[in-house]
Amino acid sequence: MSFVITTPLYYVNDKPHLGSIYTTIICDSIARYKRLLGEEVVFITGVDEHGLKIQRTANENDIDPQIHCDKISNIFIDNWKEWDITYDKFIRTSSKHHESIVNEFYGRVKKSDDIYMGVQKGWYCVGCEEFKDNPENSSTYKCPIHQKNLEWRNEENLFFRLSKYQSQIEEIINRPTFIEPKERRNEIINFVSKGLKDFSISRTNVSWGISVPGIDKHTFYVWFDALLGYISALNLNTKEHSLRKTINRSWPADIHLIGKDILRFHAVYWPAMLISAGIEVPKKVFGHGFLTREGQKMGKSLGNVLDPKLLLSKYGRDPVRWYLIKDISLGNDGDFQDKRFVDIINNDLANTIGNLLNRTSAMSRKWFENKVPNNVKITETSELASLSKITVDKYINNFNCYKLDSASTDILNLAIKTNLYLNDKQPWILIKQESNIQLVKEIIYDVLESTRIIGLLLLPLLPELSAKIDAQLGFKYKKESPWQNQLKWGLLNQNVELPNPKPIINKLEYE
Ligand code: MSP
Repeated sequence: MSFVITTPLYYVNDKPHLGSIYTTIICDSIARYKRLLGEEVVFITGVDEHGLKIQRTANENDIDPQIHCDKISNIFIDNWKEWDITYDKFIRTSSKHHESIVNEFYGRVKKSDDIYMGVQKGWYCVGCEEFKDNPENSSTYKCPIHQKNLEWRNEENLFFRLSKYQSQIEEIINRPTFIEPKERRNEIINFVSKGLKDFSISRTNVSWGISVPGIDKHTFYVWFDALLGYISALNLNTKEHSLRKTINRSWPADIHLIGKDILRFHAVYWPAMLISAGIEVPKKVFGHGFLTREGQKMGKSLGNVLDPKLLLSKYGRDPVRWYLIKDISLGNDGDFQDKRFVDIINNDLANTIGNLLNRTSAMSRKWFENKVPNNVKITETSELASLSKITVDKYINNFNCYKLDSASTDILNLAIKTNLYLNDKQPWILIKQESNIQLVKEIIYDVLESTRIIGLLLLPLLPELSAKIDAQLGFKYKKESPWQNQLKWGLLNQNVELPNPKPIINKLEYE
């Protein structure tokens, strides 16, 4: 079975922002990690192209919606290339094959007698593409996420019988690992305990959408359409496009990684829709937190939006990845602070990891003919060997529970402790006595070996930095042999040439 991981399908009302980069980078690291473990991975991302929000954006720009979607979708694809995102499937919901999956799915739900015509009255947020539950003073109430007025709706819509699935949904959301993190799970349990209400799945005032078969003027509600992108993505680049064949291929998804604002759709509506269509529900829905900027919500009107493109050109991929992965605990809200960013990159990557590598490689070159020391007896019980083994175990445990921040800290701690070990042993003093040469060889080898393990552990998180560390150690990570085997102690070849050390990362200046 494949490991299927998904990002949300991003609205194409605008180009990617830091929030979309964040989710995508986390998914990318998890996908890379699972591949390293030898699992077959299907990493799905893509764009959500229909609905009123997109229709209006296209109208405002005086452009045909399809042309608008083509343009923004291409920007997403280019961005993911620039960020070196290793996705396997990029789904666009305006594609024909997606439409046919939506129609087939609708047919199944209808057959389960879960669709009926009704009247939808309520206050709608176009930004969220969602009805809000009876806010007080609705006419003046602004959506807390989009800060825009809600719009009144009173129209004939098709409804999905969500209420029928009350007990099944309760059972699913009570599964200990279905919703993470725990606090989010409690929010959903609380929401569901109030009783599930049927929700409307079609619109009559939105032309930019998939037409509901046989019902004039109705297009599918954008969420009913978009969630199915997770399934239609699976049949991209395949010959067989039927729903049955597609889900047999690699469904259910192992994890939907999404922001906390869209948890209900994924943890309640989506599973009910799937049960109705006779399809397995995803194994996990992980709701991450929101990013703010210097303590403030990011927004165009606030003028504090952090343009990911600028960030990329200024700092490069790995520093941004490190900050987002290590400094923000997945599930919690996080704040992007320029000063903190510079400090973290300088301390963790340049000073702690970079210096460890450079100074040790410089010593080894100086004392051992530009090479890794030779004739070193590998002892798996040496101080650093034990430390690195403990680190690897902790890291694997943390990564398996999607605690990427803790896994990153595990690596950093190994680097800190290896630096301390070096300071404590003081090989630069020992080397002055000929009789210490073997001891110095062992110390230097162990430090270099510990650095090799640090580099390998960084591979799914900071792939470029990891490759630079390997190169400086004269080590070649072998793609064709299991990554975990290469984490064993003592695999750094002795007597190999060490290149002239150069910084693996440039120190940043705070402006
Ligand atoms: N199109 C829907 C998802 C459909 S999935 C079948 C959607 N798109 S979105 O573009 O508005 O949001 C995509 C994701 O970005 C959501 O998970 C949302 O939580 C996330 N974020 C939006 N702003 C964010 C931050 N400031 N910080 C972190 N993530 C944020 O919703």
